[in-house]
Amino acid sequence: MQTKFITFEGIDGAGKSSHIEAVRDCLTSRGFEVICTREPGGTALGESIRALFLNYEMSPETETLLVFAARREHLRQVVWPALARGAWVLCDRFTDATYAYQGGGRALGGAYVAKIAEIVHPGFSPALTLLFDLPPDAAHDRIVGREALDRIESEAKDFHERVRAAYLALAEAEPSRIAVLDSREPKDAVRAQVIERVLRLIGASAGFAPTVQSR
Ligand code: TMP
Repeated sequence: MQTKFITFEGIDGAGKSSHIEAVRDCLTSRGFEVICTREPGGTALGESIRALFLNYEMSPETETLLVFAARREHLRQVVWPALARGAWVLCDRFTDATYAYQGGGRALGGAYVAKIAEIVHPGFSPALTLLFDLPPDAAHDRIVGREALDRIESEAKDFHERVRAAYLALAEAEPSRIAVLDSREPKDAVRAQVIERVLRLIGASAGFAPTVQSR
C-alpha cells in the first residue's frame, strides 16, 4: 500500500473529474508535487491501448488483458517513479475499475482479475480510493448529450448495474481504503467529504518514507 497514491472510481457519469481537480489543488496549495493521470492511458502506449479498448469489439478476457498491459507500462513509466521521488499520484481509475467493469459488468468474476493483478502489481494498491456512487439512470442522464458515447458507456443499464454492484462490494470488503461518496448529494457537499478524506491521508502520510517497486 502506498500512502500517496489516490484513485478515483465510479460508473460512467458518476462525476469524478471535477473532484480530481479539487484534490490536485488541495495538494499543490500545500506545496506537494502532484501527478494527475488516468487508466487506461497515462503513457503514449497506454493512450493507444485506450483508443483500441474504447473503439473495438473484443472479448471480456481481451479487455482485461489490454487494460492490464496498459497498466503495467503506466506503473513502470509514470506511477512508480513519481511515488519513488515523493510525489502524490492521482489516478482516474485503476484496478478496482477492472474488478467492477470486467469482473462485474462482463461477469468474468473477481478471481480472474485478481490473478492478473497479482502478476502485474503484486502487493501494490492505492492508499485511498474515492468511489463516486450514483444509480445508473442518473449517471446516464448526465452523460447523454455531452459527447458521443463510447463502447462501454453505451452498454445496457443492467451492465452498469453490475458494475455499480461490484464497486459497492469492493467498498464493503475494504472500507478503510475505499470511501463511498453519494454523487446525488450537492457537489459542494461531496467536495467537502473528498477534501476531508484527503486531509486525513496527508496527516497519515507525514513521516512515511516512500517504498515502491521499480521494475
Ligand atoms: P473513463 O471514461 O472514466 O476515462 O474510463 C474509460 C472507460 O474504460 C470507462 O467506461 C471504464 C472503462 N474501464 C474498464 O472497463 N476497465 C478498466 O480497468 C478501466 C481502467 C476502465
